[in-house]
Amino acid sequence: MPLTLDLPTLFAQLETLGQLGAEGSRAGRTRLALTDAEKAGRDQLVAWMRALDLTVEVDQLGNVFGSLRAATAAGDEEPLMIGSHIDTVRQAGALDGCYGVLAGLAIQRAFREAGVAPARRLVVAAFTNEEGVRYQPDMMGSLVYAGGLSTEEALETIGTDGTRLGDELARIGYAGSLPCGANPPWAFLELHIEQGPVLEAAGKRLGVVSGVQGISWQRITLEGEANHAGTAPMAFRHDAGYGAAATIAFLREQITAAAPGTTLATVGSLRVEPDVINVVPQRAIFTVDLRDPDEGRLHAAEAALAEFLTDLVAREGLKVTQERLVRFEPVRFHKGLRARIQRAAEAAEEAPFTLTSGAGHDAQMLARVAPAAMIFVPSVRGISHNPAEHTSEADLALGAEVLLRVVEDCLAVPLGVQP
Ligand code: GLV
Ligand code: MN
Ligand code: MN
Repeated sequence: MPLTLDLPTLFAQLETLGQLGAEGSRAGRTRLALTDAEKAGRDQLVAWMRALDLTVEVDQLGNVFGSLRAATAAGDEEPLMIGSHIDTVRQAGALDGCYGVLAGLAIQRAFREAGVAPARRLVVAAFTNEEGVRYQPDMMGSLVYAGGLSTEEALETIGTDGTRLGDELARIGYAGSLPCGANPPWAFLELHIEQGPVLEAAGKRLGVVSGVQGISWQRITLEGEANHAGTAPMAFRHDAGYGAAATIAFLREQITAAAPGTTLATVGSLRVEPDVINVVPQRAIFTVDLRDPDEGRLHAAEAALAEFLTDLVAREGLKVTQERLVRFEPVRFHKGLRARIQRAAEAAEEAPFTLTSGAGHDAQMLARVAPAAMIFVPSVRGISHNPAEHTSEADLALGAEVLLRVVEDCLAVPLGVQP
């Protein structure tokens, strides 16, 4: 009997989860990792997992796994994992991450409703702190799962609000006992909204993701000297606020202009001190997010920024501190799994589009320990990390159907054979 997805339940769950942490229709929802709002999201997810009679496990970093047991003990040894995240940025849409997790539950539900046990254990994972807003690095839960950061180091992370990650994890009741990365999957699949404009512009409803671009995050602090806005001549100033503004302009006018369409630069957080109308800023603290699909170009952008800052501080009489928050090289996904996604899309009568992901994803971390791949559906106007994030129900349904077909295709591979 072919498996069928209960799409109304998938859409209803997206709606319900999207209400948790909601701050009014214009403000979207905010479920920063390990806050009370995110705990509410976790509790809801675990309740849905239990309602499907899944085996629920939580690891030492709070990654949540819901397993549908295989038909045989051998099948339990080689799980197929579907995963993403349910934490959000500030004022987020309802789909980023949640779509991939809840589509995974929809597939497990299809097995339950058909009364069929899968040939391989089917695990749905929700990884801790994918967004990296409160604690850096982003994709932290999957990074630790994949062995790229120790559990101990991650638990010691201090957040932007001064909290210790391990304390917050314990406080919300999600400090589990399972060692991180205890059961690496046979393969990992992540379904996600594109969060960019590429599919829509190409008139495509499905994307096969070739890989994820490199990501470099740093925090830069410029120290100058506070002075009176009315008495300090311009040439006498050591204006940290000017330094931040000059850096932002340099990123836009030199770094991204030198590699149009490939290097991206964002200053998403900026604070000046003392933050007063008639005082020359003494300190500016800002973040720089640099991305490029090519490691060489990303490296060149980082070097050009460092050189600019050296000149700037010499010229303006400032001091600079650069702190590295995140550095991930570009990742390519598994060829065989990508081919399976391509075939499943074609079977659904969609010629998919191949594209690189601009956003970071848990799948890029899982790719370190298992064959991994991703499916994208379009984002209307390419908007994401914004309450206006939207994908039509028809496209959400198509993505979930294709994921189901890929899962079935993977489950048909005999045990002991690579994907
Ligand atoms: C994570 O979502 C990122 O790409 O910043
Ligand atoms: Mn995401
Ligand atoms: Mn995101």
